[in-house]
This record gives sequence, structure tokens and C-alpha cells, in this order.
Amino acid sequence: MRPNRPRRSETTPCTPTSIGASPLGRYRDLVDDWDAFVAALCCPLPTCIWANPTRISVNGLSELLTAQGLDPQPVSDLPNALRLAPTLKAGRHWWYCVGLAHAQEEVSQLPVALMDLTPGQKVLDMCAAPGGKTAQIAFALGNRGTLIANDISFARIKALQGNLDRLGVLNVTTTCFDAANWPTTGGQFDRILVDAPCSGEGTLRRNPSLLQRLHRSPSTPLGPRQRALLRKAVQRCRPGGRILYSTCTFAPEENELVVADILAEFPGVIRSLPLSLPSLATTPGITEWEGRKLAPELAHCLRFWPHHNDTGGFFIAVLEKDSSPDVEPEPQPELASMGDADAAEWLEGLGAKYGLRAGYWDGYRVNRQTRRGLHLMAADHAPPALPRAEGSGLFFHRTNVRPPKPTTGGAMLFGRDASRFRIELNEAQRDAYLRRENFDPTPAQRAATPPGQVIVTHLGHVLGVALLHRSGLIESLFPTRWSGCTAAPEDAHQEHG
Ligand SMILES: C[S@@+](CC[C@H](N)C(=O)[O-])C[C@H]1O[C@@H](n2cnc3c(N)ncnc32)[C@H](O)[C@@H]1O
Repeated sequence: MRPNRPRRSETTPCTPTSIGASPLGRYRDLVDDWDAFVAALCCPLPTCIWANPTRISVNGLSELLTAQGLDPQPVSDLPNALRLAPTLKAGRHWWYCVGLAHAQEEVSQLPVALMDLTPGQKVLDMCAAPGGKTAQIAFALGNRGTLIANDISFARIKALQGNLDRLGVLNVTTTCFDAANWPTTGGQFDRILVDAPCSGEGTLRRNPSLLQRLHRSPSTPLGPRQRALLRKAVQRCRPGGRILYSTCTFAPEENELVVADILAEFPGVIRSLPLSLPSLATTPGITEWEGRKLAPELAHCLRFWPHHNDTGGFFIAVLEKDSSPDVEPEPQPELASMGDADAAEWLEGLGAKYGLRAGYWDGYRVNRQTRRGLHLMAADHAPPALPRAEGSGLFFHRTNVRPPKPTTGGAMLFGRDASRFRIELNEAQRDAYLRRENFDPTPAQRAATPPGQVIVTHLGHVLGVALLHRSGLIESLFPTRWSGCTAAPEDAHQEHG
């Protein structure tokens, strides 16, 4: 395959000389074309987004972006993704703020594509925040069943929850725990993702200032933590299940050496599966580093180099656990108890107001997790009782205000099926709404619906909830923290993860 050579940026502080003199210089013999490698690292990264499959097809998103004057391009091996110019700030666009798409680096989208996910599997995402891969897994499971998204950082779990709510994810329970100590009582999983904390060398194109940090602390002591996480994943994976280990670094000490040590710790219990992708250029995992020879099966791992596909750098290994019949099956874990006695009444009320069809809420369950209101999740979502959940499902209806109000995430979920209290906005109104400004309805909009809370849409896509005042004014209730169009720093939106 012919590599896609990126264009050199004048603005990045990375230069071939500074890269050669940095700790990355030790990879000279690993890389097939050193000059192309450093040239790629000196260029900004293309923006990559994926279409939210519960809201829009990738073709539909592509048409929408093209109509906006953008130039979305398909992405090899990622049928749901689109590539855009590096300068594009996805998070500032309305279609991003309302959850039609998520920005995630191209190579970061590949682990989930290689997890062999099917609906019905129980999945643990050990190091999940800010949640790009969690959301991908959730949708690969059909937004049903049970996915546990864990992270050791509470602040990052909050950011993850925001992403999941914006995208309408209904099958995730979040936990905040050291995954290396994941409790046995949490049960076993069909699939486990260990997207490990790492030195992040492969993210240099997105974050050129990283080069200075690499100079200051060239050898990161992350290996023990990475081994502990992968070891625990092996223990918590069910026989016959799979573990995907990934990092965004080139460092063999955080990649093949970690996988080699864990394979050696569990002889006959796990094996590394051969991996391939139909179109992207990759190189096999290395089997020798600084004089240490590794097992030949390490060549099954995949390395992604920036100059091969015009991406960031990445490493992926997939381990499969032996399913021999003499392994004693573990008992099912105790499940978290959930429920709300008044749930049916609340759902009926919403259905009646917005004209939802009978039986609309079949397939969902409701849980009152806070005094503020109700969370909605897939009916078959069944998280373990331990470790304690930070949250389950989508916060969708505020019941502690008068009158009760669907949240923006809730409105985005059912609003497209609403046949009453719904207004289509034009472009100027849409932008005012997302900036949380008040604006005037047209006479036709005013005549279409009585005053009160209304679902607002643009091109048929739900933006959220607004308040149509008797005076005629429309007040935006779009959450400020979601208003990337005006608030959030762009970096928050093009995630490694
Ligand atoms: C590479 S990032 C994960 C990116 C994420 N998978 C995504 O796709 O958005 C690594 C994460 O591991 C978390 N982490 C570090 N040590 C951990 C531990 N012992 N247990 C759980 N999470 C940990 C960090 O807080 C960080 O959010």
C-alpha cells in the first residue's frame, strides 16, 4: 500500500533534528524509513470523527458535512469513520455538540474494531476515560447488555460520562477504581479492553509539546502498572474470552515486553492471536529488543507508524484465554439492585406529553440514582454490585424541578419520535440555541405548538429542550458544558482515546 505522505507544518516545534536527538532516536533501527517517520511526526494530525450509529449513517453524516463545505474522506478499515482537515475543530460544530459524531484519532478507533464484539457479550473497559472506545464498544454491543467503563481518575470519569450522555449510550455503568485490583466479586467478562496509561509518544503529532516532556523524563516507570493491569485482565477474563491490550507509544518496554512477560506468567492459559487489517499498513510486533529475545508469537501484535497511514503511533495485542473444560466456571457475581417504583408513571407522562407510541419504553429500564431524577438504561443492563457504580445509563429526566424536564441527553434519545411539542429550528436559531441564547420563533413555529417545554430539532436531528414562553420568546435549555461551539477547549474533542 502506498503511504499517504502528510504535509509539513510550519507551526509545530518538532523538527527532524529535535526528534532525532530525543528519546525517539532510539527507534532508528525499528522504523523502516526514518526520514518519512520524522517528517510525519512534524505534521499536524488529520481530524477523524465517527458517525453515531444510533443517530445517523456515515453516508448521512458525510452528506451533512459536505453541504457545510467540508471535505470528509472515507477511512481505510473503519467504515464508520470520516477523515477531515487537521485544522477542523470538530467540537465547535453543531453536529458534534448534539452527538451525531465523536472525534477520535484514527488509530485509536482500531482496538475496538479488533475486539470481535457481538451483542450479548459482557465487557470491561479497564482504563476507559475519556471514553471514545467505551462509546464505540457500547454501540458495537447494540447499545444493549452490560459494559463496565472504569477509570482510576474521578475527574476523567465525569468527562467520560458527559461524552456517553451526549452520544446516548444506554448500556454502560461507570466505576472509579484501580483496575489492577479489580475485585473477583465483579465477575468475569467475555471481552476486556486494557487501553493502558502510557508515555504517549505516538500522540506527538497532536501534542508537539510532548517532545520536551520526553526529553525531561525519557524512561517512564509505567511498565509495572501496565503489567499489573494486563495481569488482572487475564484473571478477570472468562475462559475462551479475549483481552485487547493497546497503547499509543512506540516504546517496546510498554508494548511487546509487557505482553511477553504476561504470556510467560500464564503459560498455556493465554495466547496471542494473529491480527491483520485489510487495508492499513502495519508492522508486526518486534521479537527482539536491546538484546532480549521474545517469543515468536509477539510478531502477532500490530504496530502502527505515523508515516505509513498518516496517523498517530499505536500498538495493539489481542490475547485469548484458554477454554479447556477442566477450568472450574466462576459463580455469577451478585448484581446491583436497581429500580424506581414510580418509573412507569414518569415514562407514561413523557409518552403522553410528546405523543410517543404505545410500548415506546419497552426495552428500557429506569433507575433513580440521585434525588435529581431518573436514569434510563437498556433493559438487559446488569452491572455487578461491586465495585460500586458511579453511574449507570443515561441521566434522562429531571424530576426535582417544577415542571419536571427531560435532560438534553434524554430529549436527544426520544425527541426524534416526538409528535407533539416539537419545533424545527433554522440555522440562526440553531446557533443561538447552542449558545444558550434566547431567540424569537417564526409565526409558523409559534402557531405549531403551545407554550411550555418543547423539543427543538434542526434538519430533523434533535438539539435538546427549549422553553417556549407565552410572550413568544424561546429560551434555550442547552447545557453550557456541552456547548463546545462556545465553551470547551478544542483539545478536549480530538481524543487519543
Ligand atoms: C490511554 S488513557 C485511556 C483512553 C480511553 N480508553 C479512551 O479511549 O478514551 C489511559 C487511562 O488509564 C487511566 N488509568 C491509569 N491507571 C489506571 C488504573 N490503575 N486503573 C484504572 N485506570 C487507570 C488513566 O486515568 C487514563 O484515563
